[in-house]
Amino acid sequence: MPGERGEALIKEAISKAFQGNRRLSVLQLRKKLIKAQLPRHVAIIMDGNGRWAQAKGLPRVLGHRAGMESLREIVKLSSELGIRVLTVYAFSTENWKRPQEEINVLMNLLCEYIQKELDELHRQRVCIRTIGHIEELPSKVRSELLRSQKLTADNDGLIFNIALNYGGRLEIVDAARSLAVEAKSGAIDPAMIDEALFGQRLYTADLPDPDLLIRPAGELRVSNFLLWQIAYTEFWSTPAYWPDFQDHTHFLSALIAFQKRERRFGGL
Ligand code: IPE
Ligand code: IPE
Ligand code: MG
Repeated sequence: MPGERGEALIKEAISKAFQGNRRLSVLQLRKKLIKAQLPRHVAIIMDGNGRWAQAKGLPRVLGHRAGMESLREIVKLSSELGIRVLTVYAFSTENWKRPQEEINVLMNLLCEYIQKELDELHRQRVCIRTIGHIEELPSKVRSELLRSQKLTADNDGLIFNIALNYGGRLEIVDAARSLAVEAKSGAIDPAMIDEALFGQRLYTADLPDPDLLIRPAGELRVSNFLLWQIAYTEFWSTPAYWPDFQDHTHFLSALIAFQKRERRFGGL
């Protein structure tokens, strides 16, 4: 029918124009980025999957699935931009409080992500790493993680660091315990323990501290993420949910905002 056909054509034209604007704005944002002033290490608390789904009347599971698409996009974009380290908070030590069904979904999605993306990540010379108590995760997840780390260990591109069963307080306790063991055995003198040595016993020992921490979903808390390492990290939050990061604009906006910050590290 001509009427319906006309309507369909108008809809298509509007959607094309909208997509064009979106592309342009991503391009404009990319132009604003100063290549030489990118953060070396970006950390992200991937939050708001559930609320994204709820706002659309969808089950939470679909929010997590959409969140996985954002992860795919942001890892690729970070690698392409030349960021050195990207650390993402995928599962906290507190997330075990969630219903078992949701935990299973999150674990399965993680396996699926690695299975689907590993070859491409390897091709981009991404080096996959994890922080957190991986040994407590289901064996299927552990084996996928080990496989991906083994394959990409020598890659010299983006270090893609996944925080899984991670807790900032637990990390600090682990570091304190390992120093205590070394002191007890006589390997170190307690007087030697300073910030540098303590930092070397953290999961992130060989990584620079994050320059930028991104938190979606409008939350203004750190939820036990990288407590030691974020002492001087620039914090950026947005009301957008993590699944909204698929279109690059939020991530690029965060990088541009970071480039406008004046970092003083306690000096003048
Ligand atoms: C982040 O989204 C995923 C994880 C914490 C694993 P949420 O599931 O926390 O989503 P909200 O905060 O309920 O919207
Ligand atoms: C933080 O999000 C943990 C991850 C994103 C993995 P949460 O949704 O668990 O944080 P809270 O409970 O809102 O602080
Ligand atoms: Mg949340």
